[in-house]
Amino acid sequence: MSQALFSLRGVVKRFDQREALNLERLDLEAGVITVVEGPNGAGKTTLLSILALITPPDQGRLFFDGQDLPNSGSQLTAWRRQITLVAQQAYLFDTSVEKNVAYGLRLRGLERAQREDRVGEALAQVGLAEFGPRRAKRLSGGEMQRVALARALVLRPRALLLDEPFANLDPASALVFERVLGELSGQGCTVVLVSHALEQAHRVAQRVVYLRGGRLAPDAGQGPSA
Ligand SMILES: Nc1ncnc2c1ncn2[C@@H]1O[C@H](COP(=O)(O)OP(=O)(O)O)[C@@H](O)[C@H]1O
Ligand SMILES: [Mg+2]
Repeated sequence: MSQALFSLRGVVKRFDQREALNLERLDLEAGVITVVEGPNGAGKTTLLSILALITPPDQGRLFFDGQDLPNSGSQLTAWRRQITLVAQQAYLFDTSVEKNVAYGLRLRGLERAQREDRVGEALAQVGLAEFGPRRAKRLSGGEMQRVALARALVLRPRALLLDEPFANLDPASALVFERVLGELSGQGCTVVLVSHALEQAHRVAQRVVYLRGGRLAPDAGQGPSA
């Protein structure tokens, strides 16, 4: 197995005493597209939130790039900036597409010229090259999801996490997602997407992991199965 970007050991997350997630051992290799499948309530979103370093586990250990989860705030921030989560619903600001996409770069203090270059690149990558000046809230659902993807791409994360990216996507936008995820993996980005058993997810998957009731199904992690 190649180098794992994420390693989880005995990770448990509970909500009101109820176990939402209990993963004895899960390694997610760098540069691989992993699809996490499972029914509603299986713990998929909880897993993404732990991988994004948003939700700390109640128990167990999470390693990123071979290093233990840091407890210092600044180290945690540095790590979080290498991981980008695309939520199930795109929360776009009511402003132009380009401002939406540039947002994270502004937070990171990039200069305007650099921001514009990278925003232009990211929009072209998702097939929205001409959309920069348009008002984000007026776009179709699929276009908004592509803007959300561009907003993630522009940050050039080492890991991209996507929550049900194919839900409610029109076919053209779904194709864009499939293409972009493949490109990212080719560039060494680690992609984790969670999904109901959907056709598109299987097409992009290099590895499929099954979650049931917060636990990995016994055959999980046996390599490509798409
Ligand atoms: N913030 C929360 N508070 C209480 N229970 C939660 C919370 N988030 C998730 N859960 C519970 O944890 C379990 C896993 O949820 P989730 O990770 O959202 O599943 P999935 O994304 O696979 O549908 C579910 O039983 C859900 O109700
Ligand atoms: Mg979910």
